[in-house]
Amino acid sequence: MELANFIPGKGFRKLNIFQKMKTSGLIGLLLLVLVYGDDATRKPNFVIIMVDDLGMGDVGCFGNDTIRTPNIDRLAAEGVKLNHNMVPAPTCTPSRGAFLTGRYPIRMGLASKLPNTMFGFNTGIGGMPSSEITFAEMLKSTGYATAALGKWHLGLHSFSFGHNFEFHPLNQGFDFFYGTPLTNMNECADTPNGRSSIMSLWHDFYTVITNVTVFLYSLVGLLRFSRVVGPTSFKVLLLLTTIIAIVAYCMPYYNYRFECVLLKNYEAVEQPFRLQNMTLRLTKYATSFIEENKEGPFLLYLSFLKVHTAMFTSKNFTGVSKHGQYGDNVEEMDWSVGRVLAKLDQLELTKNTFVFFTSDHGGHIEEISIEPGREGEREGGWNGIYKGGKSQVWEGGVRVPTIARYPPLIPQGSEISVPTSSMDVTPTLASLAGVKIPRDVTIDGVDITKLLAGKDKAPPHEFLFIYCGPWIHGVTYRPKTDDISYKVVFTSPKWTPDTEGCFNTWLCRCHGEWVDHHDPPLVYDLTHDPSERRPLDPTNSDVRKITSKAIEAVDIHEGTVVPVINQFQRFRVGPLYPWLQPCCNFPLCSCVEEGYENWDLVDF
Ligand SMILES: *[C@@H]1O[C@H](CO)[C@@H](O)[C@H](O)[C@H]1NC(C)=O
Ligand SMILES: *[C@@H]1O[C@H](CO)[C@@H](O)[C@H](O)[C@H]1NC(C)=O
Ligand SMILES: *[C@@H]1O[C@H](CO)[C@@H](O)[C@H](O)[C@H]1NC(C)=O
Repeated sequence: MELANFIPGKGFRKLNIFQKMKTSGLIGLLLLVLVYGDDATRKPNFVIIMVDDLGMGDVGCFGNDTIRTPNIDRLAAEGVKLNHNMVPAPTCTPSRGAFLTGRYPIRMGLASKLPNTMFGFNTGIGGMPSSEITFAEMLKSTGYATAALGKWHLGLHSFSFGHNFEFHPLNQGFDFFYGTPLTNMNECADTPNGRSSIMSLWHDFYTVITNVTVFLYSLVGLLRFSRVVGPTSFKVLLLLTTIIAIVAYCMPYYNYRFECVLLKNYEAVEQPFRLQNMTLRLTKYATSFIEENKEGPFLLYLSFLKVHTAMFTSKNFTGVSKHGQYGDNVEEMDWSVGRVLAKLDQLELTKNTFVFFTSDHGGHIEEISIEPGREGEREGGWNGIYKGGKSQVWEGGVRVPTIARYPPLIPQGSEISVPTSSMDVTPTLASLAGVKIPRDVTIDGVDITKLLAGKDKAPPHEFLFIYCGPWIHGVTYRPKTDDISYKVVFTSPKWTPDTEGCFNTWLCRCHGEWVDHHDPPLVYDLTHDPSERRPLDPTNSDVRKITSKAIEAVDIHEGTVVPVINQFQRFRVGPLYPWLQPCCNFPLCSCVEEGYENWDLVDF
């Protein structure tokens, strides 16, 4: 479908949401967008800020008294703090897919039985399907100017012989993109830090490459043996296979050039990207976008490359915090939030702009520096009183620091402690903008406008499921009749002894020998025991009731999950399609974005 839309020389013709629905055979359901009223200027603007791997304990207003996050704290003082906001899966790619669409990641194929639950190569062919409808698409359809800045991590191309950009942000409702299709990785460090995220995740990288190489040689041999190809073609094919094998085997050594790519819309503008001033650049793009669209309405999705490794800060933020490089990273991110808020103030847009601040999951506790001079320094987030972290069912993995500010609606300095979900953002944005969400799509989030406004205190969700790959490891249960939030844990990761992480695999895994199954499940009273230290007595009849309710809810939910293509299959995520590589000047694939040297003169 996508190749047809690629016009050589003219680039990619964007499908709008209606064409997209047509191509997915949903033409009968064009009821999609019903705009209430026609005064576009009255619609709120949206600034949606996503931080990477930021933990509950990393932010001042969530209880950290030694890190300085005055701008995020200001946001909380002027808005509402969501103390129990959860992501449906504690790793980047699935969590972001759910965030942008309001749906459990398994519904879009972002749930895999394999250990790799995120995308690691630009030359893979997995991604969030373009048939998914993001909040950007919903807002764009009602006249919003939309931009995505920073980390995407939801794929780039699907399989094709050209660049089809099926999974690119511009094919998901954004008018403008400046950022990386993947994520910040250790490979991308300005000065090598001796680590490789790819190799940490892909223990069997060389096994896969060896299998593919053996397969290719056998295929070439077979083609010759059965006389499908002549002796000359045979030699050419042998040579090609050898080149592919050498390129693949050497990949970990030059990978930064191919994975650390900065795109501006469809074009690679810096390769490998230089991290040092990246936050300054994103901030500049953010404030410029707001300035250009001050007549509104606009949606800005600002997705920081921070506070993920590789650690990086510009000059002004190097060595300023009390918490090493990691703290410096948090404080620079906070500065950037402050510049965005200041721009809204300056343009008198604060009142009419809904600002949402969150993280994609908890801090990564296995991320420890091996750099000489920094050995042992923690470079992953801090989850405060919460147990575990990224890639785990525990609160440290799934509870994220979240704040919403919208002066006309949200009372200043308020707090919400009932369980909410990152999937609530899509329906809430749609509601605030007066867009009807598509009726034929299962949306798992709910519109929490009234809850944010303090008008309706009822918990929006009775059950929230915590996924690890395609498995549900736990359920948060908030009975309608009770003031207590419970958590039922069916499966939990096996930790490295005396730690709360999985240091031998770098990220905890979801099944097999890597996990413990609990039968009966562990039940916690999160309201009185948020650190999940004291499981309730499983023989108690009330506890048994909670467990059976949770199991019943899982069954009902699983009945609504329709099987779809798994986007994490090996042949989709592996670096197997070299022609899909973004490259700014073939064959060097090396360039820098001009005009970003003298940051001391930049006006934010
Ligand atoms: C504040 O955050 C830093 C950086 O993550 C962490 O090292 C420190 O322990 C935190 N302090 C508190 C009181 O949570
Ligand atoms: C860095 O600090 C200097 C001196 O305080 C200041 O003039 C400059 O504006 C700062 N740069 C940024 C990007 O904040
Ligand atoms: C970042 O900006 C500073 C000026 O503030 C400059 O000296 C430095 O070279 C820049 N770094 C890169 C990688 O462009």
